[in-house]
Amino acid sequence: MKLTGKTALVTGGSRGIGAAVARRLARDGAILGIVYKENTAAAESVAEAIRAAGGHAELFRVDVTQEQSVQAMMQAFVARFGRIDILVNSAGTFAAAPVEAVSRSLFEEQMLTHPWSVIATTKAALPHFPAGSGCVVNVSTSLVHQPANGTAVYAAAKAAVEVLTHGFALELGPRGVRVNAVAPAITRTDMTAGIPADVLEQERALTPLQRLAEPDDIADVVAFLASDDARWITGRTILTDGGRV
Ligand SMILES: NC(=O)c1ccc[n+]([C@@H]2O[C@H](COP(=O)([O-])OP(=O)(O)OC[C@H]3O[C@@H](n4cnc5c(N)ncnc54)[C@H](OP(=O)(O)O)[C@@H]3O)[C@@H](O)[C@H]2O)c1
Repeated sequence: MKLTGKTALVTGGSRGIGAAVARRLARDGAILGIVYKENTAAAESVAEAIRAAGGHAELFRVDVTQEQSVQAMMQAFVARFGRIDILVNSAGTFAAAPVEAVSRSLFEEQMLTHPWSVIATTKAALPHFPAGSGCVVNVSTSLVHQPANGTAVYAAAKAAVEVLTHGFALELGPRGVRVNAVAPAITRTDMTAGIPADVLEQERALTPLQRLAEPDDIADVVAFLASDDARWITGRTILTDGGRV
């Protein structure tokens, strides 16, 4: 198994893409920290599935927008497992609003949840990556590359995540830390459950591979980026969108 002996912390690991990433990294042999905000039952069920398959998983209930809490979580993770090898930032919320309805609080919530949390978790992880290695994978969105009405603030927050990904890769490359991102198009999770069927059908039809993504489609690419097979890739965002963009 490619990640045997590695430790991985996945934010947003209780549901959707993050849950699929946690399960996949555990299947590859990694010891998992599953970070979630409030949905303990969902997080427990991901951890239980990992344990039932013979893996190791622990839960960390943390609001990733709160830097002190993130620091404390990282200390607890490292106290338990000794170090961190892989950090995956999948925690996120989606907010759409036409420009007239964009409020400062919506803007702040999106910027804190997306780019700020990436900064907070990366800062917290840095001292605990093994000398000369370490890996961060951030989750962006294809909306950065192909805008849709009403999603400008969400996409701007994710654009910031991509620029942070590229900037941190430059800064941390000399320390052996790789930083990459994936940018999914619509993926079947709780986040997209409320999208009307006709809109989903339109998206499917516009996707060259003629279906919408499942969380595992994204998780497999994250697992590749987290593995040594991707040792020569850093500072990249991979569009995981079935060709939609
Ligand atoms: N689904 C898509 O179509 C799609 C497309 C492109 C990009 N993305 C991005 O992919 C990532 C995962 O999306 P998803 O569809 O898997 O979402 P989801 O099913 O709604 O799950 C969101 C996850 O993020 C956690 N979370 C949210 N805010 C948090 C906070 N402040 N602190 C800690 N955890 C927090 C949630 O924890 P709780 O369970 O405790 O609430 C949950 O685990 C997000 O960054 C999203 O923007 C999604």
